[in-house]
Amino acid sequence: MMSEEIKGFSKLSKKEKIEWLTKSCFKDSKSAKKILTQYWSSDYNLQKLHDEFSENTISNYYLPFAIAPNFLINNKIYSVPMTIEESSVVAAASKAAKFWMDNGGFKSKVIDSEKIGQVHFIFHGDKKILYKYFDYIKPLLIKNTREITRKMESRGGGINHIKLVDKSHELEGYYQIFATFNTVDAMGANFINSCLEEFSQTLCNSITKFDNNGLRQKDIEVIMSILSNFVPNCVVQSSVSCCVSELNKLEPETNNFAEKIVKAIEIANIDIHRAVTHNKGIMNGIDAVSIATGNDFRAIEAGAHAYASVGKYKSLSSAYIKNKIFYFELKIPLAVGTVGGVTNLHPLVKLALEMLENPNSKELMNIIACVGLAQNFGALRSLVTSGIQKGHMKMHLTNLLNKHNATEKEKESALIYFKNKLVSSSSVESFIKKNR
Ligand code: MEV
Repeated sequence: MMSEEIKGFSKLSKKEKIEWLTKSCFKDSKSAKKILTQYWSSDYNLQKLHDEFSENTISNYYLPFAIAPNFLINNKIYSVPMTIEESSVVAAASKAAKFWMDNGGFKSKVIDSEKIGQVHFIFHGDKKILYKYFDYIKPLLIKNTREITRKMESRGGGINHIKLVDKSHELEGYYQIFATFNTVDAMGANFINSCLEEFSQTLCNSITKFDNNGLRQKDIEVIMSILSNFVPNCVVQSSVSCCVSELNKLEPETNNFAEKIVKAIEIANIDIHRAVTHNKGIMNGIDAVSIATGNDFRAIEAGAHAYASVGKYKSLSSAYIKNKIFYFELKIPLAVGTVGGVTNLHPLVKLALEMLENPNSKELMNIIACVGLAQNFGALRSLVTSGIQKGHMKMHLTNLLNKHNATEKEKESALIYFKNKLVSSSSVESFIKKNR
């Protein structure tokens, strides 16, 4: 079945939207409707809250909300909320957390938390006049955003610096107002974008008052005003370390386990195919905590991979051995917030933040980075020893059994049967066939 064009879809009620959608996109509209409605909350207000998060909402999309306990970070123990569908991620994070809890825990520090925004504009006139004009408007840029910045300033944040950047050597007539911000405990996207749009107004509208050298309003053409998700000065550094001998005890059947982890990172640093997958593993943990705490994981993903590609795309983590001590670190930009967005709205997000003892944004940066590091450790541990599939498929076994509608009894015997056997889609299928 193919969907048809519809006009004014957003104006329809939720019921009408579902009616139209299920009739025009599904052979069995009744069962489609049933699936959509069975995910509704029976609590009217809660459902309304979720409906209003977005346009055209027709149902809720569940993901597991899981816990990775035993994260010892800067001498404090956290039970970390993780929202992710990939079956082995939380298990791997928890296992890594437990090992490092017994070996000194994670240390983490925020290096800086500066955010960035730009007004991109075109100017074809005399550069010197533009620089003079910028000097003239600089105090106005600050003054005209007072209404927007007042609250942020009262919390200790605001606009840090504003400068004019000449990019005309890369694109004819291209300049930027380049601004940096301190958004304290907010991720700050709305604050930054509002400031930037006000800057853009000031940039265009102050020309008439600048009685100098015949600069005309039409000489400046603003293309766009938007924050940057590349935040190389909003960075956190997390680390763990222990004796090589202690680490090697973890995998007694693998020779030179610690050295192999170091080698795995060296490989990621020279090979982009490996580096992207390596960093994806880190992001498994980073995204899961970011989603659970209501943060914009798309922004975090974009920023992390851009940071990894400065110079040459490489591993976000590093490892080395010195004086028989194994050091393992992650340095990553994380623009996160603990206020604003859905953080004060989504009941599970509020719960997640409370579980973490309502951290400020820097504490949350520390927690998220440590989970990323733990996740990377877990992945590398499997990769350089048994391989990733053993643990992964064990965790995936229940999904495969569910695909065959296995009963609880079948699941129990499958868990015993597959204890020392390779789990695969076909091996589970033949197990079910044989035992049914
Ligand atoms: C799978 O989601 C993540 C890994 O591929 C990460 C890695 O290879 O380091 C296991």
